[in-house]
Amino acid sequence: MSANTYRQDSVQRASGLWASAKAVFRLPNDDPRKTLAVALVLCLACSVVVSATAVSLRPLQERNAARALKSEVVKVAGLDTAGMSLDQAFEQIERRLVDLETGDFVEDADPMTYSYREAAQDPDASTALDEADPAGIRRRPDRMPVYLVRQDGQLKTIILPVYGAGLWSTMHGLLALAPDGRTAKALTFYEQRETAGLGSEVAGERWLSEWPGKVLIGEDGEPVIEVVKGNVDPDAPNAEHRVDGLSGATLTSNGVTNLMQFGLGEQGYGPFLARLSDNHRG
Ligand SMILES: Cc1cc2nc3c(=O)[nH]c(=O)nc-3n(C[C@H](O)[C@H](O)[C@H](O)COP(=O)(O)O)c2cc1C
Repeated sequence: MSANTYRQDSVQRASGLWASAKAVFRLPNDDPRKTLAVALVLCLACSVVVSATAVSLRPLQERNAARALKSEVVKVAGLDTAGMSLDQAFEQIERRLVDLETGDFVEDADPMTYSYREAAQDPDASTALDEADPAGIRRRPDRMPVYLVRQDGQLKTIILPVYGAGLWSTMHGLLALAPDGRTAKALTFYEQRETAGLGSEVAGERWLSEWPGKVLIGEDGEPVIEVVKGNVDPDAPNAEHRVDGLSGATLTSNGVTNLMQFGLGEQGYGPFLARLSDNHRG
């Protein structure tokens, strides 16, 4: 078919459609065909508006998400940021990238633009977890960002992004550790979609306040932290390695145990933390 014939054919088809549309809209209002046509046009118009709004708002959402993350990092860093803007406070914190396999810092990529979420989707930047995937993340990014808080040149806090599956959602959090690389200083979950009032308590101040002081990694370097069902007996010998379960949300609680065990283990930050801990012991 030549280009000219094709164009004529398209024009004919469009005018045919337009004529049918006009015929439908000339039908009486109580004709079911007209009702259907109006519903269809409305659906189409609404979906165009919703899609256009979603696309146009995406950059704003990304900026807001980046800002919210900065604010969470500053919060768990435990710095005195009185009188500082969020950007000024965030600049006090060093951001580095760690090669999870070796535990070394990586210098050939920009930690400010690196996204572990994007890396996890990229087969060249992540490793498939086909057999052992306790955190339910399917692919582990080969590199992860870490945030270091120093005071007078001394390392004070190490902040690790941690994430893994809850019951309904992937829970993204930040774990602040003491310089020994084993003891929790703070924990936050800044993104999760567990049930409000049940699993969502994972992000509640009350439950998160149980974490500071917990020893997450044993002397042998293996993660030992566990969120238990019910309450931890404070006199039990392993109480420093245990956190109370969320009531009515055992599956979300188990998700936290799993993401901690994986994130702090051999396939997670384990090699990096082992180095830190060696340096700390001196
Ligand atoms: C509507 C609904 C929402 C639920 N949301 C959660 C949740 O977010 N996290 C969770 O662990 N359990 C949730 N559960 C409960 C789980 O199905 C399961 O019963 C619970 O984790 C067991 O905890 P328990 O042994 O402490 O009762 C939900 C249950 C229902 C009916």
